Amino acid sequence: MDDLSAPIPQRILRPLTESAIFLVLTIDEGGEDGVREVLDGFTGTLRTVRSRIIEADLGCVAGIGARAWSRLFSGPAPKGLRTFPALSGKVHDAPSTPGDLLFHIRAHRMDMCFELAGQLMRQLRPFTTVQDEVHGFRYFDSRDVIGFVDGTENPEGREAQQFVLLDEDADPDFVGGSYVTVQKYVHDMDGWEQLAVEHQADAIGRHKWDNVEMDDETKPADSHTALTVIEDADGTQLKIVRDNMPFGSAAADEFGTYFIGYSRDLDVTEQMLRNMFLGDPEGTNHDRLLDFSTALTGTHFFVPALDFLDDIPP
Ligand code: HEM
Repeated sequence: MDDLSAPIPQRILRPLTESAIFLVLTIDEGGEDGVREVLDGFTGTLRTVRSRIIEADLGCVAGIGARAWSRLFSGPAPKGLRTFPALSGKVHDAPSTPGDLLFHIRAHRMDMCFELAGQLMRQLRPFTTVQDEVHGFRYFDSRDVIGFVDGTENPEGREAQQFVLLDEDADPDFVGGSYVTVQKYVHDMDGWEQLAVEHQADAIGRHKWDNVEMDDETKPADSHTALTVIEDADGTQLKIVRDNMPFGSAAADEFGTYFIGYSRDLDVTEQMLRNMFLGDPEGTNHDRLLDFSTALTGTHFFVPALDFLDDIPP
């Protein structure tokens, strides 16, 4: 039987929804007490909106950035929490951008996401500055805007829990917590669409229409899935859970992917990013997908267990 006294994680693991809002804020000087109070009431605010249309299955994960942690709480910080390291490859860069609070809002209906974002912002506006707000949508059969099915190799069930949630060994003070990384990418759609479909598939390492993975002999070493499959010293694959969403503006000719990756260890996500931007082995290649994708933001957060949010420490 499960340990009923174990801290309950926030609802990180769930199937992809139709809609999402990603809200990244920084805390204004002197806004700490106000933010703590809003975080204290966070699960109540979520319940208030969620119960209005239960079948929309509204959920929201709240994350806290490294710079904010010591401003908000006097106790110990999660062991692995740090700011996102900017990466500068031979060809492509991953910037590190500010973020003290992340709200990853998901539901089957955008009205529910929007209502929760509005209620959170009404409470947080006096104490924070918005760094970024992105409205994501599900696109056809869970494809990203460049036309490939996204999320196929995500771990599921117990395996996902093991890759994402902290246990006693990882950090006894923060059992049930997780780390999350966000990056907002925009795509060069003109360039991408000029590529023949088989060259697009080479960039991803999977075929476009049927989503079938290329075999090891044909998958190029600079394809996205060759560079993001990583292993530990014993040859065991290390995984993260992604919940990427397309976003964009037809009028502004903006076509984007909001990358969000949960992990129990930021080293794993950072290794994937180093492979993508610096190459593997370093300096020899880079992710071909990056020739058509520009990272505009990059931020790490810690996602505490629900028990922490329901009983915010001093
Ligand atoms: C796989 C798209 C950014 C990590 C994939 C796949 C697609 C994709 C289409 C193949 C299907 C799947 O397994 O999901 C994108 C796009 C991105 C992006 C459009 C942004 C422009 C990232 C970043 C990371 C990442 C920043 C890591 C930090 C992975 C991993 C896999 C994957 C681990 C699974 C590899 C495997 O096990 O085969 N991505 N991705 N992706 N991506 Fe991304």
